Amino acid sequence: MRVGYVLSASGTYPPDVIEVTLLRGGSVHRGEYLYAEHDGKHIFMQVENVFVKRPTSSYDEKLARDDVIIHDAEKIVGKAVCVQVGYDTGSSIEPYLHPIPPLTPVYKPASEELYGFIAPRGPSISIGRIYPTDAPLTLDLKVLFRQGALVVGGVGTGKSTLLLTMMMRILEKAGLRPHLLLIDWDGEYNTPALAARAQEAGGYLKITSKTPLKKRMRSLSPAEWYRMFRQITGMASQSTQMRALYGAIKTLEERGVASIEWSMDGFNLIAEHVKSPDARRQLEIQAQGSSGEPGMRPATGWTSSRQSGATPWSTWTSRTRITGTR
Ligand SMILES: Nc1ncnc2c1ncn2[C@@H]1O[C@H](COP(=O)(O)OP(=O)(O)OP(=O)(O)O)[C@@H](O)[C@H]1O
Ligand SMILES: [Mg+2]
Repeated sequence: MRVGYVLSASGTYPPDVIEVTLLRGGSVHRGEYLYAEHDGKHIFMQVENVFVKRPTSSYDEKLARDDVIIHDAEKIVGKAVCVQVGYDTGSSIEPYLHPIPPLTPVYKPASEELYGFIAPRGPSISIGRIYPTDAPLTLDLKVLFRQGALVVGGVGTGKSTLLLTMMMRILEKAGLRPHLLLIDWDGEYNTPALAARAQEAGGYLKITSKTPLKKRMRSLSPAEWYRMFRQITGMASQSTQMRALYGAIKTLEERGVASIEWSMDGFNLIAEHVKSPDARRQLEIQAQGSSGEPGMRPATGWTSSRQSGATPWSTWTSRTRITGTR
């Protein structure tokens, strides 16, 4: 289906970025594939941006300001700015290195043609459809395994679901005998379906560990921070140092600080607000001494207090459990 013609407002025609003037009523989406028919080739491109153009006359702004709206459809032109993908030589996709001249017709490929162009020639997995067509979106396994993939997207846009789909499809691929290693920090891939599929595909081994690879930071409200510090150091709340610390905590609270990291950095932030240099020195001695582990960087000692309640400076315990079959 023809959607428009290569025609740029600036009058320039580089080979990589192609500006298409759309036919009246034509509609294309961002990310959609189109092709220009030129030089006996179908040169594919992907729509990077779509917009309408309407030249603004000097009186347009004044009319809009005065709430006088005149819709003049004749002035409006649809545009699509595309990035060239290349053309199919029969054995590979090659970029077309010359400019695509003005007024070259541009078409929307049928699903089958798009699939024929984009589908990998070798082993592949199908992970969905190319919006807004029915063409399947397939990933070339050679590229996936040899070169890798990076899944990027906003919060909740389906990254984890896509990775799960990819793993399932890879495992389903007959004759592939893939080796998958999944490091699953939060246990979000702990689904029986994935385990069962892996088992069917040749074997499955699950190793669980309670050993934290990274010490987690803990954030406390200023008041909680003060109480924790007092509990650990055993200092009396009436002491000069603790009164100075309390003053600093109140200053931070008044400035709207809602949470402070339970670490040496957090301490330093608070210490900056302790007015008396003497009291600050004493507090620093307490803070460093409390790490309880000579030679250890204070920050490490401080953050190791997570979860331990009554003995805040105790070190992490680690336990490893191995389950599964192979
Ligand atoms: N292709 C899809 N079609 C419809 N719904 C989907 C699709 N992919 C994911 N979802 C749904 O969207 C929600 C978020 O998906 P998912 O957890 O995979 O996103 P995420 O990008 O990993 O999120 P987060 O950033 O929180 O890790 C889930 O409810 C999931 O079922
Ligand atoms: Mg996720």
